[in-house]
Amino acid sequence: MTSPPAAILGLETSCDETAAAVVTGEGRVASNVVYSQHDLHGRYGGVVPELASRRHIETVEVVVLEAMRQAGITWSDLNAVAVTNGPGLAGALLVGISFAKALAYAMRIPLIDVNHLEGHLASAWIDHPDFPTPCVVLIVSGGHTHLYLVNPAGSYELIGHTLDDAAGEAFDKAAKMLSLGYPGGPAIDRIARTGDASAIRFPRPYLKRGNLDFSFSGIKTALLYYLRDLDQAGQPWRVADIAASFQEAIVDVLAEKAFEAVRRFKVEALAVVGGVSANSRLRTVLTSRADSTGIRLSLPSLAYCTDNAAMVAAAGLKAYAQGRFTSWQLEAVVESPRHRSAMPRL
Ligand code: KG4
Ligand code: ZN
Repeated sequence: MTSPPAAILGLETSCDETAAAVVTGEGRVASNVVYSQHDLHGRYGGVVPELASRRHIETVEVVVLEAMRQAGITWSDLNAVAVTNGPGLAGALLVGISFAKALAYAMRIPLIDVNHLEGHLASAWIDHPDFPTPCVVLIVSGGHTHLYLVNPAGSYELIGHTLDDAAGEAFDKAAKMLSLGYPGGPAIDRIARTGDASAIRFPRPYLKRGNLDFSFSGIKTALLYYLRDLDQAGQPWRVADIAASFQEAIVDVLAEKAFEAVRRFKVEALAVVGGVSANSRLRTVLTSRADSTGIRLSLPSLAYCTDNAAMVAAAGLKAYAQGRFTSWQLEAVVESPRHRSAMPRL
């Protein structure tokens, strides 16, 4: 075991957030700076990879300097640099990787690669360092809807995943249909608060199948047909009711499957992480089910739900403690591990 470090710098540029954070050797988040590119991509209704890379190049240095300033440390206080190496957009990942490599090389400190999902997973423990294992972790984001069983030794196994769209993707596509802008999840969350969630009964796919896999493309198609039928009948769209009902269907499925996994694997702790875990209705439903069943629930603070570098530094800290360093030949891993059985390591 290596002695505890003073500080790890984390970097995250896998998609449309340029993020840097400092986590101390005790696991305290000393800074967490996120520059979001949402304004840049909003007008296109989704992320434009080339624009994302260019904006990362323009902002990465400023974001890192700000993270260092807020943490109140200097370069020589850093013990390692942790960086997301995938999955994500090739060009976007390369910006963070190149910056991290150059910095670590110049400072003669280790470079640590962090799988993006490992980062989200680590976010469950940032606010709750004593969160127990074994536990079930649901990673629910724009690219993933994955259920993991995390064992006491820290290893994990994939126990369920989406067979088509991720939940965040379904939110984003629904918001596009409803002209609510990008990213869609927060927009639907906001407008759904004024709507009636029981107004429309959207399908709850796979709920009765007794397995832990997900499918969200059916809900999306149901919404498309619902809107088309309204148009054909010349009826107005009650957007708040539609958004609330659509959100309720997704939340129902996510909560039911997560607690089914907890039951099936006889664990007493559940963490839900990733961008969609910021959803206010999902947080309410999960919290009340956890309270009524006595299950310990970890929901990251909102700052650690959507893409951020604190989670990357937190995962990096674990790797550092185990002496798991990366070679200077580190490359970007673009592919989505959606159908892989497990992340590379924990
Ligand atoms: O984890 P994340 O920032 O990036 C990925 O790894 O994909 O997740 C982004 C996703 C987007 O699909 C976004 O619409 C969704 O998380 N999201 C939400 C909310 N905030 C972000 N979905 C529902 N409700 C929210 N409040
Ligand atoms: Zn993410």
